[in-house]
Amino acid sequence: MDPLRIGIAGLGTVAQGLLEILHANSSEITRRAGRSLSVVRVASRSPKPSVDLGTADFSTDLSTLHDADIDVVVELIGGEDTALQLVRDAMAHKQSVVTANKAIIARHGNELVADAGREGVMLGFEAAVAGGVPIVNALTRGMVGNRVQWIAGIINGTSNYILTAMADHGSTFAAALQEAQGLGYAEADPAFDVEGVDAAHKLTILAALAFDTDFRFDAVYTEGITHITTEDIEYARELGYAIKHLGIARSSQDGIEARVHPCLIPRNCMLANVDDVMNAVLVHADAAGPTLYYGAGAGARPTASAVIADLVAMARGDAVDFKVGGADHGALNMEQVETAYYLRVPSLDEPGVFARVATILSEHAISIEGAIQRERAVHVDTSASWVPIIILTHRVREHVMTSALKAVQALPEIVGEIMRIRVEQLD
Ligand code: HSE
Repeated sequence: MDPLRIGIAGLGTVAQGLLEILHANSSEITRRAGRSLSVVRVASRSPKPSVDLGTADFSTDLSTLHDADIDVVVELIGGEDTALQLVRDAMAHKQSVVTANKAIIARHGNELVADAGREGVMLGFEAAVAGGVPIVNALTRGMVGNRVQWIAGIINGTSNYILTAMADHGSTFAAALQEAQGLGYAEADPAFDVEGVDAAHKLTILAALAFDTDFRFDAVYTEGITHITTEDIEYARELGYAIKHLGIARSSQDGIEARVHPCLIPRNCMLANVDDVMNAVLVHADAAGPTLYYGAGAGARPTASAVIADLVAMARGDAVDFKVGGADHGALNMEQVETAYYLRVPSLDEPGVFARVATILSEHAISIEGAIQRERAVHVDTSASWVPIIILTHRVREHVMTSALKAVQALPEIVGEIMRIRVEQLD
């Protein structure tokens, strides 16, 4: 058979990893694909003469990737506008597309899947979620006979690295972020990582695939890790929990909830032991039960591995025909979502404060599962000494907790902002 002719947009680390692995594993890839995968052109605004392009030619003009001798365009330039235009143009030229770009799939996936169907081309984005972990394939092929009940994933390596460093070494947030950036995992704008946007992009994709809904980036509740302190990590540990940044999507009679936020999870559950920059996605489904997918969520070679999976599927002509948007489940507003909570309430070191806080919670039908209250003040400043009251609650809807905390915050004995972190048992 004729080779699959590939054009690569971008010559950054992932593109270099792709060239390297296509070359190193070419005999296995050709055998499995039933034909060879041939990179005929690489286009990038910045030439890198030191990179071995093999037999491919090079152009600084991305539009040359739409020449008729290219079957598939691999978009590895990142960012949004130029990448999106390139993908649209490729499909308009009847070229299939492989992309590692979670932002354009999360935000424009509905349009792009429709374009691919209309133009009769294939679209692959295995590399957009959790790098080398084949979670798109798992959801669309391996689990295709299941009703997925919920998904919980550690899907941002940078945030996971920071939380692990804070928990294991007492690192400051800033120092841990700098280390993570040194590993090359962080987005160009690390706010995307630490504010949860990158994880929300990935969760949007996972939720659409798991529940056959549209890509609904705007419906994902998004909270990052910038407010998490080592103090909270320590209290969580004392209570038997780890703090992880999770993406959670769940299907219920009320609709689909999709949320990204820090979360206390039991220290003995598997996700709690996914550390450093690693990613993992736990899928709970009716037939298969729980399945866990773990691996490197970014990096040149793992991401290239995922790109090649899509290219081989295209070479065989059996790329996934995404059925997103087929189901009509509505999106559940975060205010309606039910979780348990960890609360850290900074209060004056005076008798009766805990009772007053507990009374307000009880008036809102929120029951307390556990609490830690130090006998003596741990924080003393010039004006007063105060103690953090730590409370774990049972499950309650978000809007109920919000109004309860408003009342607690108004107590004169509360001396600072209340910290709330959601708690999931993941069982
Ligand atoms: N910035 C991302 C992360 C890279 O930290 O996981 C992979 O999308």
